[in-house]
Amino acid sequence: MTAQAFSAQTATAIAVSGLSAGYDGVQVLHDISFTLQKGEAVALLGRNGSGKSTLATALFGMEPQVSGQITIHGADVTGWASHRIARQGIALVPQGRGVFPDLTVEENLDMAALWSRKQPCRSWTRERVFDSFPRLAERRRFHSASLSGGERQLLAIARALLTQAQTIVLDEPSEGLSPRAIEEVIIGTVGQLKSEGYTLLIAEQNMTMALQLAERVLILDHGTLVHDGGSAAFLADEALQREHLGL
Ligand SMILES: Nc1ncnc2c1ncn2[C@@H]1O[C@H](COP(=O)(O)OP(=O)(O)OP(=O)(O)O)[C@@H](O)[C@H]1O
Ligand SMILES: [Mg+2]
Repeated sequence: MTAQAFSAQTATAIAVSGLSAGYDGVQVLHDISFTLQKGEAVALLGRNGSGKSTLATALFGMEPQVSGQITIHGADVTGWASHRIARQGIALVPQGRGVFPDLTVEENLDMAALWSRKQPCRSWTRERVFDSFPRLAERRRFHSASLSGGERQLLAIARALLTQAQTIVLDEPSEGLSPRAIEEVIIGTVGQLKSEGYTLLIAEQNMTMALQLAERVLILDHGTLVHDGGSAAFLADEALQREHLGL
């Protein structure tokens, strides 16, 4: 079953309006507004420290919010606890992978599957993960700490899928990976999810990689959303890239 097949109620996956957030009284995000329609793949670009991870985690209620509204799959989740937001069909693949290194591949997957056992539609099972990603099946009894970077990223993506989310936020999925792993794991796997109708928000420093997947680009600069437009127009605009990404 594809993502689109079980999320028919509203056309909007993520709607953020006037979002400001930060840490310990230091404001990092300033008045951010954007919308992702279901099935869109959107790149979130920005220099180091521009606020990509803060925005990604703020969507999950993990950062103190100063103001604004966040709607996920039609529900206003502003102020909700993270675990409740996750039940809205959105999952985060955190920067640095977010797998438990001391647990085996199988145990990592079981934890994610256990969490979603009460979801009405359980399209992803551990068996489907092993069928879809044979590399994880081969290493099912290995501790996650012993996996390659690409395999760990694959495991983190599989964990997100096992929550049965239809919208997946990936925070710097290519970080630390070889060009070959980026091609196989990120472009291959995430590209497949895109073709199946998943909604994807991909925070990246690797613009070339992100633009292979995304049809739209958001740019953060010092915590402000300075651009929201199609990938082709963005690629053609060298002045924009220079000003906000330093390219
Ligand atoms: N836990 C935290 N406590 C305090 N400040 C933080 C915290 N996390 C991030 N910051 C600050 O918030 C700002 C934005 O950081 P953030 O990690 O969101 O940027 P980023 O765009 O994801 O960067 P990178 O590309 O390096 O991952 C930075 O100034 C950073 O120092
Ligand atoms: Mg980051």
